[in-house]
Order: sequence, then C-alpha cells, then structure tokens
Amino acid sequence: MDDRFNTIAGWTLFAGIVALGASIVAGETFKSERPEEMGYPIEGVVQEGAGAAEAEKPIAFYLASADPAAGEQVFKKCTACHNADKGGANALGPNLWDVLGEPVGKGKGFPFSPALSGVGGTWNWDNMSAWLTSPKKFAPGTKMTFAGLSNPQDRANVIAFLNTHSDSPLPLPAAPAEAAAPAAGEKAAGDKAAGAEAGKEPAAAEASAEAKPAAKEAAPAH
Ligand code: HEC
Repeated sequence: MDDRFNTIAGWTLFAGIVALGASIVAGETFKSERPEEMGYPIEGVVQEGAGAAEAEKPIAFYLASADPAAGEQVFKKCTACHNADKGGANALGPNLWDVLGEPVGKGKGFPFSPALSGVGGTWNWDNMSAWLTSPKKFAPGTKMTFAGLSNPQDRANVIAFLNTHSDSPLPLPAAPAEAAAPAAGEKAAGDKAAGAEAGKEPAAAEASAEAKPAAKEAAPAH
C-alpha cells in the first residue's frame, strides 16, 4: 500500500516536472515580440498618438481648416533658424518669405545642401507637408536638423502661416473627397441616436434616455 502511494506520488511529481519543463520550452518557442503598437486598430476610428500616422488624411484636408494664427505658434519651433519676414535675413536656415511656389532648396541665395537642392520641383502643399513631417526622410542628408512635425494639423497650420507670408498667398486647397469619411461616421452615430429616439414608447422612455448618452459615446471622438 505504502509502495503504491510512493509510486503514485512519484509519477505525479514527474508529471508536474514534465509539464513545467514543457511550458518553459513552449514559452521560449512561442515567445512573441511585443508589437510596436498595442491594441487592434479599429477601422473608421481616428486613432490618437502613434496610430494617427496611419489614419492620416491628405494634407489638403487639414489645410481646409488651417489657422495661420495657430501656425504662428507652431512657427516658434522654427524661429531658432528661420524667419518669414519680407526681406528677412537668412540665418541658420533660409528666410522663408514667399517660400510656397519657390524652387525647392534654391531660393534666397542660401547655401543649401545638395541633399535639398537636388530634390527638384517647387514647394507645394504636398511636398511641403512631407518635408515638415520628416526633413531627413524627405531629403536624406539635409542640413535642417529638425525632427519634424508629426501632427498633421500643426503642419497645415504652419504651412498656412507661411502662405500668408507672401506677396501673393495661394488659395488654400479645398478639402478632398476623403473628408467625407468622418462625416459619414458622424451620420451613422446620429442615426443610432435617432433610432434610440424612434424606439421611444411610454414604457421605453427611460431606457431610451439612457441609450442616448450611450449612443453619443459611440460617436467617434474628435
Ligand atoms: C535647427 C535649425 C532649423 C529648424 C529648427 C528648422 N529649420 Fe527649416 N531649414 C534649416 C536649414 C539649415 C535648411 C536648409 C536645409 C538644407 O539645405 O538641406 C532649412 C530649410 C527649410 C525649408 C526649405 C526652404 C527652401 O527655400 O527650399 C523650409 C520650407 C523650412 N526649412 C521650413 C521650416 C519650418 C516650417 C520649421 C519649423 C517647423 C523649420 N524649418 C525648422 C534649418 C532649420
């Protein structure tokens, strides 16, 4: 009897060790890399922070509601090296008066790096946005040692600010068709709220009143 107990205890212990060993091995084998971004992206939901880059719309969308006064605040990040005054001097970076429409990396008699002067073309909304997102990605080897503006609205605002510093400011572009996407989202949320209201019957009145704020919460945050 005693013998049998020892055998059972022995096997139980053995099984435990095997299970532990297996789980360690499995843990090593299936160890997954921590994803760069946590969580699952939800389509149609505007992501904050790191995810914003993926959900970013064309710059024209942000320019449509750009505010040059807000851009002046953003431009404070640039004034260590730039001014945008008419006839202003070049400093660490070139004077930026009337820069939109100017050839890329050629204006104002500034000693541009070949990295930027070799890009070609003239400054427009799109390449200016790309440049300000990441100067070193746009023109690898550029002398502009500025990390970039990741927030698209900041970029649009500062571009709008630069645009006003010109003898002939360009008309800001109209919002592209993609701008309709969030509006559709709002509409869907609105329909939901309307549905909650439509279902309002004397008995359901209370439940409906509760459903409304819930529907509001479901609306995409802006
Ligand atoms: C640390 C200094 C520095 C900061 C900060 C800086 N820049 Fe520059 N910028 C430069 C330099 C230097 C160049 C020339 C780059 C080259 O030749 O490669 C340049 C070039 C540019 C150009 C191209 C001009 C042309 O005529 O082609 C634009 C536009 C520009 N900067 C805008 C900005 C804006 C907007 C900001 C702020 C959000 C900013 N820069 C911040 C130094 C800076």
